[in-house]
Parts: sequence; C-alpha cells; structure tokens
Amino acid sequence: MNALQKYLSYFVKIGVEKTSSTYSERLEVALQDGKLILNSKNANYSFASLHRVFQQVFQRIKIDQKPPKKMLVLGCGAGSIPSIIYNELQLDVEMDAVEIDEKVVELGNKYFGLDEFQKLTVIIDDAANYIKNTGAKYDLIAVDIFEGLNVPKEFLNQPFFEHLKTNLNNEGQLLLNFVAYNYEAKEEVSAIEQRLNHVFGNVETFKLQSINRVFYSIKKG
Ligand SMILES: C[S@@+](CC[C@H](N)C(=O)[O-])C[C@H]1O[C@@H](n2cnc3c(N)ncnc32)[C@H](O)[C@@H]1O
Repeated sequence: MNALQKYLSYFVKIGVEKTSSTYSERLEVALQDGKLILNSKNANYSFASLHRVFQQVFQRIKIDQKPPKKMLVLGCGAGSIPSIIYNELQLDVEMDAVEIDEKVVELGNKYFGLDEFQKLTVIIDDAANYIKNTGAKYDLIAVDIFEGLNVPKEFLNQPFFEHLKTNLNNEGQLLLNFVAYNYEAKEEVSAIEQRLNHVFGNVETFKLQSINRVFYSIKKG
C-alpha cells in the first residue's frame, strides 16, 4: 500500500482483492483507516471490529497477567487473535488455530503475515470435527466461528460445550464470540448463557462494540 492509498483509506474503503470460496460467497481484503482488513459479504472477519472485540476481551480477562501456555482458536480467520497475542501483547503462547476455509488462510498468509508466527499452528478443518477428535488440552479456547454474522447452531449447543470442557485444563478459560444483531439473536443470548452455565457452572457475558456478546466461562476442578 502506498502513502496516498493509506491516506485515502481514512475517507473511503479501498478494495484490494475480492474473491469467493466454498464457504463464503464473498471475501474481500480492503484498506480501511490505514489498515488492511478482511470482510465477508456482511461482516468483518479480521482486523476491524472483530479485532477490537478481542483486544477488549483480552484486556477484560487480564490475559497478560497470567498468559495461557497453550491456546486454541476455533475460526482462525486472517489472524487478528494471533496478531493481538504475538504483536501487540508480545505473549509467549503456543497456539493452534482451526479454520475451515483454506481461502481465508491463503488471504491471511498473503496480506496479514499469518504464516510468520513461529508459535502458531494453523489447521484446516471443521472446528466441530477438530474438537471431537483432538486429544489436546488447552488453557484457553476462543470460539470465533461465523458464517457471515451467524454462529452456526452446532457451535452453540450443549454437546459442543461439553467437548470444549473436555479439551480444557482445570482453570482453563473459554471465550465464545456471538453477534446479537437482530431480535432473534438477542433473544438467544440468555439461552446460550444458560447452556454454558449448565456445563461450566459459571458464565459472564461481555457486551462489546454494541452488538458483540462474548461469553466467558472457566472450567473449575
Ligand atoms: C470472524 S472470523 C474469525 C476471525 C479470527 N478469529 C481472527 O482472529 O481473525 C470467522 C471464521 O470462522 C470460519 N468458520 C466458519 N465455519 C467454520 C467451521 N465449521 N470450522 C472452522 N472455521 C469456521 C470462517 O471461515 C471465518 O474465517
């Protein structure tokens, strides 16, 4: 990106690459407010509002005071979370990140340096499949799986929450990002809280960027 493009991007979003994939009818890398971002048809996938959500979440849970040794991201995107953990917070964390869409990872590598993080392993898989089959245990799991603005139902149900719990160490932390963008989604918030509470015995909900709800549970001994 040259200096003029960067300057102009504060006034108007500048398209850099538009493509599509089996999973997303539109994927767009664009320059906005001086930064590259990745959008799907109707949502930011990485490096704009999504990025701010996780910056605030990590601050809220004070991740820098007791960083996880090993963390899992379900829904890797173009890598906002790794960028916050490694570039901004400079934390020494071993991270696995699962992404169903190879095209998203390609864009992450091409524009966002996703393949340059030494301690990050990107796994191309369906998160549902990964969580059922991995034997790995994590100190922190961030669930950030979206199809546009929606989190597919299978990632909001009790059996999935049970699998997440199995894959957490004791005192391990779970973060689940959700967007309450319409009446139905807002109504769903308390049902998700109840299900998480049922499995983990605790849940706290962070309300961020006006429509994001990030559910936070801890696995207790
Ligand atoms: C909001 S983006 C994730 C952003 C990412 N956490 C970051 O830090 O940049 C949501 C991602 O979930 C992915 N996704 C959707 N369904 C999935 C599934 N079943 N398994 C894994 N990833 C999935 C999408 O392809 C998309 O890249």
